[in-house]
Amino acid sequence: MLSIFNWKKPAADTLSFLKTDIHSHLLPGIDDGSTDMERTINYIEELHKLGYKKFITTPHVKAGIFPNTPAIINNALNEVREAIKPLNLDIEIEAAAEYLLDEEFESILQRNELLSFGTKRYLLIEMSFISPPPNLSQLIFKLKTSGYSPVMAHPERYPYWWESLDKIADLKQAGCLLQLNLLSLAGYYGKKTKQVATKLLESGIIDFVGTDLHHERHLADIQLLTKDSKLMKLLKNKAFLNEML
Ligand SMILES: [Fe+2]
Repeated sequence: MLSIFNWKKPAADTLSFLKTDIHSHLLPGIDDGSTDMERTINYIEELHKLGYKKFITTPHVKAGIFPNTPAIINNALNEVREAIKPLNLDIEIEAAAEYLLDEEFESILQRNELLSFGTKRYLLIEMSFISPPPNLSQLIFKLKTSGYSPVMAHPERYPYWWESLDKIADLKQAGCLLQLNLLSLAGYYGKKTKQVATKLLESGIIDFVGTDLHHERHLADIQLLTKDSKLMKLLKNKAFLNEML
């Protein structure tokens, strides 16, 4: 984690080159992200100050933990849209979801209830931090043949891949796009995650970056990251699909 003693007011618009954040937990009360509307509004305002113009927020969908449906997610989205209207911010907010590849995932796919985003039907997926699903390649193939463009959330955060980064390259080769967390670069999840994130970013394999913001500590570390000229230079030298959305 970056030291609080280094805290200075973050420079405005530092992240404007990204335009759209495609991974966050801003809808209040439906997952382990924002707990209430006041916080949601604060996160949106603060991320907007950093330069974001659009938010595709992605609540968790996890069997038995966060059983979010499109109806629950869209209701929460509408409430947020109403609540931010009086602020007249120059932003757009949409919602999709972050799907854990668990025992329920395939039935959601069968029922045609997956929430994707963009014209290419990008679908944000994540895996357990203990082990990848044994049928990962088949799932990616199934998603692609069903018309989705799967996007693996934070590939740098899965410890079982840290010593075999070729698995990440294989995933990309199989047609799964890759989304890196800004918080990984900031060092929020520890040294090893930061090291892997930097390596992946430098290799040019990353397609999207996202905040994956859940709470105030995440916001503080993203604000600190924008003050790190070395990491900001590394980010700015890459082209991401974020700006196309
Ligand atoms: Fe997330």
